[in-house]
Amino acid sequence: MTRRPSKLRRALSAAAVLAVAALPIAASAAGWTDPPAIVSRDGILDTTMVLAPRALSFDGAPLDAELINGLYPGPVLRVRPGDTMRIQLVNHLAEPANLHFHGIQTSPLGNSDNILVVVPPGESFRYEIRIPEDQPPGLYWYHAHIHGLATRQVTGGLSGALVVEGLEKTLPAAPGLTERLFVLKDAEYEDDDPRVPADLHGVLQTINGQTRVEPAMRPGETQFWRFSNQSANLYFHLTLRGHRFRVVAEDGVRLRQPRETETLDLGPASRMEALVDAGAPGDYDLVSDKVLTGDAMSRVLGSLHVGGETIVMPPATVPPAWSLEDLRQRTITARRTVVFTEDDAAEIYRIDGKVFAHGRIDTRVPLGSTEEWTIKNDTDDMHVFHIHQLAFQVVAINGEPRPFNGYLDNVRVPERGTVTLLLPFTRREMIGTFVYHCHVLKHEDKGMMAAIQVYDPAAGPPPDGGLDTPLRWLRRRLAAAWNGLPLEYCGLR
Ligand code: C2O
Ligand code: CU
Repeated sequence: MTRRPSKLRRALSAAAVLAVAALPIAASAAGWTDPPAIVSRDGILDTTMVLAPRALSFDGAPLDAELINGLYPGPVLRVRPGDTMRIQLVNHLAEPANLHFHGIQTSPLGNSDNILVVVPPGESFRYEIRIPEDQPPGLYWYHAHIHGLATRQVTGGLSGALVVEGLEKTLPAAPGLTERLFVLKDAEYEDDDPRVPADLHGVLQTINGQTRVEPAMRPGETQFWRFSNQSANLYFHLTLRGHRFRVVAEDGVRLRQPRETETLDLGPASRMEALVDAGAPGDYDLVSDKVLTGDAMSRVLGSLHVGGETIVMPPATVPPAWSLEDLRQRTITARRTVVFTEDDAAEIYRIDGKVFAHGRIDTRVPLGSTEEWTIKNDTDDMHVFHIHQLAFQVVAINGEPRPFNGYLDNVRVPERGTVTLLLPFTRREMIGTFVYHCHVLKHEDKGMMAAIQVYDPAAGPPPDGGLDTPLRWLRRRLAAAWNGLPLEYCGLR
């Protein structure tokens, strides 16, 4: 395993090299640590991930963690387009586990990005994931994805960032920028849990496994900050007092036009990558606002220190990315409506009236289609639509057309509202069975997930995605219920 500390990238311009070379590397700055990384070499990232339980404590708040190689969150995987990842997953937990490579446009079959795989306790499994040559360079992530266990396992630590290198090349000034990775995690507690400090208000929030982070910048400096919300259920609204973010990419994809904002609204599973220009010398709080629905609570998660000698950097202007295809130019082959409903009291969450069932295919799409889906939220709750294996374009929210500015792989569906999406089912790699679901994992675990099969109409029925293994294993092990749901709800009986 190769670990690479967060490193300073040097600017190409001679003036910038002189100015930047005097900076301490980010990793040595007080109060800041990037999560450790595993880097691909010669096109291959070959590594072992050992999953094991561990009791952790954050400022007194206990967490029954499930860690990858002892890390919370898990290691950062750094690859290039076209690379292959070979990951030996060794499961030392007392329960089954698996991995999903969120946002990677690769195959859902066999030992690729197949969330129907179940790795039983005591066993191991070798994943082999091909990162496509044309995967947009940017920030992705990976996480555990067993139906019924996702909330606990992602909260417990079974997640990490996955960086497809090269985004910085589209930002002219970025080769000289210090890069920081912010992995956001949550853990929920009962409000009256006596073990938890009162000021947590029931939700612990961490960045890179710490309750407080202290990044530093020089006056005049621009840095490249990459945010990955790897919380199970929490929406983060982040502000950096006295500063604005210039968002250049969302969900790993360069925006056509960078977007300036004071607040980063990061739903569960979202990623945003932004340039930050240092303000005047001083200390500025990094604040998480309004974490709980209907609650104005804020929490300080860290502080930016701007100080030291002024640094001279070339202005980090970001050109528009005109090459992105606006999918509205395509012929729409089908229109569908996908409806989210819930029975809040019973904690049952449904898509199109059904809870997820292993072995049932809910939607079939011929390869080559570009479809328009309207996702309808028939509840007063927040839901987040996510689909595997592809990125989509948001064309309307509550029926209001949206200008084209890039693609997402997850989107908030407004309460009692709709989002309208264009989904390209056009890459051969996606043939097989995969899922779409709410990325609020407590909803997904309780049924809000559905299976989709993409098939090549010229090639007959697609291969089965390996459904048999989890079914056999789960049937053998389970008695009457799975995570509180009667087995018939999960297609297990
Ligand atoms: Cu983050 Cu089904 O995935
Ligand atoms: Cu939901």
